[in-house]
Amino acid sequence: MSVPERTDCEVTEHSTSNVPKTSIVPESTNCETPDLTSIENAIETNGLSKIFGELRAVDSVSFSVRKGEIFGFLGPNGAGKTTTIRMLCTLSTPSEGSASVAGLDVVKQDGMVREKIGLVSEKMIMYDQLTAFENLRFFGKLYNIPKSKLDPRINELLELVHLEKWAHKQIGTFSTGMKQRINVIRALLNNPEILFLDEPTLGLDPQSTSEIREFIRNVNTKNGTSIILTTHMMVEADMLCDRIGIIDRGKIVALDTPGNLKKMISSSDGEVMEFDITNLTSAMYEAIQEVDCVDAISQKSDTLVRVTCKGNDAFDNLIDTIRESNGKIKSVKNLEPTLEDVFLHITGREVRDHTSAKVKTSSGRHGHMGRPKSRVR
Ligand SMILES: Nc1ncnc2c1ncn2[C@@H]1O[C@H](COP(=O)(O)OP(=O)(O)O)[C@@H](O)[C@H]1O
Ligand SMILES: [Mg+2]
Repeated sequence: MSVPERTDCEVTEHSTSNVPKTSIVPESTNCETPDLTSIENAIETNGLSKIFGELRAVDSVSFSVRKGEIFGFLGPNGAGKTTTIRMLCTLSTPSEGSASVAGLDVVKQDGMVREKIGLVSEKMIMYDQLTAFENLRFFGKLYNIPKSKLDPRINELLELVHLEKWAHKQIGTFSTGMKQRINVIRALLNNPEILFLDEPTLGLDPQSTSEIREFIRNVNTKNGTSIILTTHMMVEADMLCDRIGIIDRGKIVALDTPGNLKKMISSSDGEVMEFDITNLTSAMYEAIQEVDCVDAISQKSDTLVRVTCKGNDAFDNLIDTIRESNGKIKSVKNLEPTLEDVFLHITGREVRDHTSAKVKTSSGRHGHMGRPKSRVR
C-alpha cells in the first residue's frame, strides 16, 4: 500500500517528539480511540518502508510488538532503526506499507497515536537555562496536562529517577547521565501506553547506563508500559529485551527472544570457539577462515580470534590449520554464543560497537543456512 507523500520537515523533532497535535491533523477516519487492553499487539507493521531517493532505509519490515513487552531493535549504525521509530511515532510518513500503534493507523490517526506514546529520541531536547522542573512543566503543558495534575506527576517522576533534590537546579549544570534521566521521564509525563526509546544509553557512563536500564525495566514491570527500544549494543538488547528484531540494511533479518536467537547457532550444529594465538598473522587468520567448518570469524584483539564453526571435526581441523600455519596456540575456549555471534552468523558482518576499540577486523564466511556471504575485511 502506498501512502500519500508528506515531507519529513512537516513535523520537527523539537516540536513533536511527544506532543499530541490533534489540532494539526487534517482528518481522522476513525475517531474512536481503541482501548489498548482489548488489543493484543501494541505495534503492528506490514511491509513498512522508507525510501530516501535511491536508498531503501527501511525495506518492507513486518513485525509486531506485543502489549507489555520490551521489544528491541538491534542493528549497526545506519541499519534503519531511527527511521523505523520515526515512522511509528508519526514523525515521518511511510513510503510504502502500513503500521498501527495502539491499534491506530500511524498515518490516518497520527494525532491519536501521539497521545498514546512517549518518545525518547536520540537527540536530547532540553533547555539549559531552565530548571529540571521548569523543563518538565514546559513539556507537560504542551500535552495540555492541567497544572494540578502535572506538578505532582513531575515530582513523582523526579523521585523515580532520584533527582528530586535537583528539581530546581538549571539543567545546564547537570551531567549527561542526569540530563538523560530527565529526558526519559519527560517522555512519561503523559503516562504513555507505549514508550519508544531510541538508543537510550548512547554516550552515557557505565553507572548512568545501568540506572537508565534499571529504570526502563521498572517502567515496564510496574506500569505495564510496552517498550520499544533501539540499540546497537548487543549486551543492552540481551539484558533488557523480551524479544529482539535484528535489523540490517533496512531489513529485519531475525526476530525472536534473545535465548532463541542464540540457539540458532547451536541448532544449526554450530559452536563458538575463541583461540588465543600469540603470533597471529593475517595469513593465519585467512587460513582459519578458509577451513570448511568455519561459519563466521572475527578478530577480537591482536591475538584473539573468535570462530563460529560446525561439525564434529571442527576443533581438530582448526587446530591442524593453525599449527600448519606455524601458529602458537596459547589457549582455546568454548564460549556461549552471544547476539554478536548471531548477527555475524546471519549477515556475515559484525555489529561494530564503537565502544570497542579492540576490534580490528571481522568477516563472515557462510551465512545462516549456508547462504554465501560477502567477506568484509
Ligand atoms: N532524512 C534522510 N534523508 C536521507 N537519508 C536518510 C535520512 N534519514 C536517514 N537516512 C539514511 O537512512 C539510513 C538509516 O538511517 P537510520 O534510521 O538513522 O539508522 P540507525 O538509526 O539504524 O543508525 C542511513 O543510511 C541514513 O543515512
Ligand atoms: Mg539511530
